[in-house]
Amino acid sequence: MNKMLTEQDFIFKNFSEDLPEKGSFTWKTPSNIALVKYWGKRDPQLPENPSISFTLDACFTITTLEFKKSNLVQGDQKINFDVFFADEKKDDFKPKIQIFFERIKQYVPFISDYDFVIRSRNSFPHSSGIASSASGMSALALCIMSLEKELSPNMTDAYFNKKASFLARLGSGSASRSIEGELVVWGNHNDIQGSNDLYGVEFPSTVHDNFKNYHDTILLVDKGEKQVSSTVGHDLMHGHPFAEKRFEQAHQNLSELNEILQNGDLKRFINIIESEALTLHAMMLTSNPCFILMKPNTLTIINKIWEFRARTNSNICFTLDAGANVHVLYPENEKELVINFIESDLIKYCQNNHYICDRVGLGAKQFE
Ligand code: PMV
Repeated sequence: MNKMLTEQDFIFKNFSEDLPEKGSFTWKTPSNIALVKYWGKRDPQLPENPSISFTLDACFTITTLEFKKSNLVQGDQKINFDVFFADEKKDDFKPKIQIFFERIKQYVPFISDYDFVIRSRNSFPHSSGIASSASGMSALALCIMSLEKELSPNMTDAYFNKKASFLARLGSGSASRSIEGELVVWGNHNDIQGSNDLYGVEFPSTVHDNFKNYHDTILLVDKGEKQVSSTVGHDLMHGHPFAEKRFEQAHQNLSELNEILQNGDLKRFINIIESEALTLHAMMLTSNPCFILMKPNTLTIINKIWEFRARTNSNICFTLDAGANVHVLYPENEKELVINFIESDLIKYCQNNHYICDRVGLGAKQFE
């Protein structure tokens, strides 16, 4: 089923009285790194511009959702749940999840009939500056979709993935890109078939071999809490003096990247990826209030990457999230060259010499 779905298609209709009493589902869901960045949104969690990301492999969340029929009358209360992160009860995680449940209730009304226990852990350290909302929210969305599939066993895999992405988006925009692999587009773009604002879709064209098993070594420059939450960051794009131009530029960059991913032009790839990273930070540098999310070591690493590239003609490049860590991207056939360079020249700029070797991955997996 490759038809584009609308919001109406995601409203659960065949409500049966035959709900399972209790059970649990577990999903392992990857993080992702955006190549063309999503920055700026409108209600309800719709992007102001399309984005595309590499699905990652080594950075993931594993979430188990335990469900049990509730004694409360359906629909009259907030959803009752507890959250454990790395075996520790985490009441401070509850407000964000409560908002997520409230937003998705109209599409999965059966969740009101249950009490839940959510048990989650990440493969990466919690305080690593790596955002866990993409993997965390997509894992939870997938667990809820597994429950929906119990009620609608004939559901196709395509519908399952689209609705999982749709629900994940309502928790965190970038989570919509953490269901499938290896490249996912979220947000409507004229050149990319099936792309839309409601859910992420796999990049539909054949990807050049140059981008197969692409590497992302994440240099942990600053492992502190995020200085600016993404909610605040997206909000700063309302009334931002450069917002409209930026949204337009993201469309153009995605048009170009669409071609590059098919023709394998690594030099043009580098040019767009680094410009996207610096533009994301430029938006924060020029917002009101303004923020500097890079640290001195972020800039040192970027300069070292540029020197190394000029010296060796390597296809190494960097991208950034809304923080100080640097994602170093490079093709499979340069992995020895680049990892040697990272170890000898860059690790010293990481907090406690910490870095994570990741690469492009295939998407979420259910654990039986
Ligand atoms: O999904 P959010 O609301 O946390 O926003 C994430 C935005 C960036 O990570 C900075 C860019 C992106 O496209 O992932």
